Amino acid sequence: MARYEGRWTTVRVEVNEEIGWVTLNRPEKRNAMSPTLNREMRDVLETLELDGDMKVLVLTGAGESWTAGMDLKEYFREVDQSPEIVQERVRRDASTWQWKLLRMYSKPTIAMVNGWCFGGGFSPLVACDLAIAAETAVFGLSEINWGIPPGNLVSKALADTVGQRKALEYIMTGDTFTGTQAAEMGLVNRAVPLEQLRNETLALARKLVAKNPVVLRAAKHGFKRCRELTWEQSEDYLYAKLDQAQLRDPEHGRENGLKQFLDEKSIKPGLEGYRR
Ligand code: COA
Repeated sequence: MARYEGRWTTVRVEVNEEIGWVTLNRPEKRNAMSPTLNREMRDVLETLELDGDMKVLVLTGAGESWTAGMDLKEYFREVDQSPEIVQERVRRDASTWQWKLLRMYSKPTIAMVNGWCFGGGFSPLVACDLAIAAETAVFGLSEINWGIPPGNLVSKALADTVGQRKALEYIMTGDTFTGTQAAEMGLVNRAVPLEQLRNETLALARKLVAKNPVVLRAAKHGFKRCRELTWEQSEDYLYAKLDQAQLRDPEHGRENGLKQFLDEKSIKPGLEGYRR
């Protein structure tokens, strides 16, 4: 849909078939995340969250890069010269979209990793619910190569997805790894040949578009939150989520699903979704 055309300078947004394709769009800088891009991404995510025509968000990058991480010139060197309060604001913009908004986004999110993914890029990568990478995509925790430990929540993101041995190996050496290796270590769901990346992502996004959005939100929030809660807290929280989803669900999915299976015998919920 053309309604977002030209609205942001560093991000391109298209909505088709209820799927929002959000493309980091600084290919000449390998989509490095500058303060401008971070500010714009906050607005993009907040805008699309309220767009009733968008049910699933895909985050990708223009050209040969997903993102080369934080912008070493604009995010680091130039901001180093700014007043302390500006530095605070610049950091807050970055983590607001890369982590806070994206991780608990109210709609399903898929990272479609088309190429380079470095450093700060690991935060939005892991914050997305699902991720598909090109087999040939190249990942790296390159911070060690230019004099800092990983910043923002990059290390936390790794600790949350891959084991300690792999995480520390890549954090401490700065060695790169491919999309295929990223899939083997559970950092992404799967890796596919680059020419199939868009179609694979589209198929997954369509699958999510077909599900009940209120229940999808409760399911993903429940999973993410309960990783940090005790078993007792998790039980309470997950039951509360379940009840909340039922109360808020305008399409009464639970009732319809039960009716279609038990009364009409028209579906097998182990194999297919109820008719919405
Ligand atoms: N920040 C700022 N600018 C970046 C950047 C970054 N993270 N990554 C790439 N760029 C810029 C380069 O400075 C160059 O700009 P120029 O044309 O004005 O000189 C342009 O993007 C192209 O980069 P180049 O290195 O020539 O591209 P490449 O395709 O040969 O290599 C990478 C791509 C991603 C391997 C390489 O650019 C790189 O190592 N980038 C840094 C990655 C990194 O360490 N990120 C962690 C930051 S937390």
